Amino acid sequence: MVAGLCFFAVFLADNYTGLTTINSRSQYNYLKALSKSMMTLSEAIQRDQNDSLKHYRSHFIMDDPDLIYLDGNSLGMLPERTPAAIQKVVRQEWGDRLIRSWNEQWFERSQKVSSKLSEIIGAHPDEVIISDSTSVNLFKLAWAALHHQKDKKTIVSDELNFPSDLYVLQGLKKIMNQNHEIRLARSKDGITVSAEEIEKQLGRNPALLTLSHVTFKSSFMYNMKEITNLAHEKGSLVLWDLSHAAGSVPVNMHESNADLAIGCTYKYLNGGPGSPAFLYVKKELQENLTSPIWGWFGQNNPFQFSMNYQPAPGIERFMAGTPPLLSLSTLETSLDLLLEAGMENIRKKSTDMSEFMISLVKQYLYPFDFKLSSPEDFHLRGSHLSLKHPEAYRISKALSEPVQNRKTVIPDFREPDNLRLGLSPLYNTFREIYESIMEMRTIVEKKEYLAFDQSKSKVT
Ligand SMILES: Cc1ncc(COP(=O)(O)O)c(C=O)c1O
Repeated sequence: MVAGLCFFAVFLADNYTGLTTINSRSQYNYLKALSKSMMTLSEAIQRDQNDSLKHYRSHFIMDDPDLIYLDGNSLGMLPERTPAAIQKVVRQEWGDRLIRSWNEQWFERSQKVSSKLSEIIGAHPDEVIISDSTSVNLFKLAWAALHHQKDKKTIVSDELNFPSDLYVLQGLKKIMNQNHEIRLARSKDGITVSAEEIEKQLGRNPALLTLSHVTFKSSFMYNMKEITNLAHEKGSLVLWDLSHAAGSVPVNMHESNADLAIGCTYKYLNGGPGSPAFLYVKKELQENLTSPIWGWFGQNNPFQFSMNYQPAPGIERFMAGTPPLLSLSTLETSLDLLLEAGMENIRKKSTDMSEFMISLVKQYLYPFDFKLSSPEDFHLRGSHLSLKHPEAYRISKALSEPVQNRKTVIPDFREPDNLRLGLSPLYNTFREIYESIMEMRTIVEKKEYLAFDQSKSKVT
């Protein structure tokens, strides 16, 4: 409160020198509205002061004080310790130790980092492996599940799922050539999918249900346990894509009793561009499932160079080839930060931030054609928010390429009219949320987005 009043006084001194008397109703209303908005800024500052995770921000590289990064749901920021970690792998482990590093530490590195990741998703270390990309891991596990459920032909997903996941299923259907049917659960509001709809699509004899735990556009979060139980009752295996969930919401594979999971590590896990994905296979299922890619890293004893493939006894059977050592090492530094901060604390801050953002959106952006396109109830949301606006694309450009002396805000855009705002509790602040909403308001109020054309960049 005191901070807010001080700020208000300074703001008036800076901006309204000469305005000594309030001589009209409209000036009065204007100042009243202004003071209300400033109280919200002071509230943001207050929240930052009380934030128990605030010191984690300094663990990330932030050279530009005028940049507000709201895209950690696509590519997480660079942890401060990561350049030194990668320098060590490149300079010492590769440069000095050369091939000897394989025996010294590289061969076990994938397992070591996987075991850290397993803590984040409530699994045992011998149930998780880091390898390949999310799409490739989905291919491996979906094939394994369908092969295991030979007599069942129904694959169920939903229309909110990430397109790459659906492409992988379409490709599998084609190459397996066994008359599988892919059914997509529909969303009535474009934001959520009901459990009843999933149940309906599962039908009587489903082979596999595969969904994103947190959907990429609307941020809708399924109740993993409820949906898994529902599918299990019908004899289906369940495979979750955790790309938008791992590191942003508490996930517990054991509690939810899910069979399989995959996910990327470059979003909330801050592993860096192209860092390898992970996969999870429930312990009891491992011996019954086979990977479709019989590579030497999934072989029982790769360095015996046997001419015939024998799958490794545990989760390693789902590896294929040589793991990407450089990005495995960048991932490790970031996982350490997440584990130290604790997923419950991260979730608490994430929901506080998204609630705060929604209240600002309603107050400042609803009058300008914005609409919330994520669930209102935070129990049903991940850690990003989607806003719809007919000019979403040009607004996203105006935010990220601002005129002089204004903050640069980096969100992302998803077709056809979604502005996605990622809130990463380890480095985003309440003040950033406040300032980015104010930027959006100015851009639409002054129609600054008209200065940009509609042509899309390759990557949005
Ligand atoms: C939910 C989801 N699934 C799958 C993918 C594809 O991941 P990858 O490029 O690692 O295959 C992404 C990429 O952003 C994603 O968001």
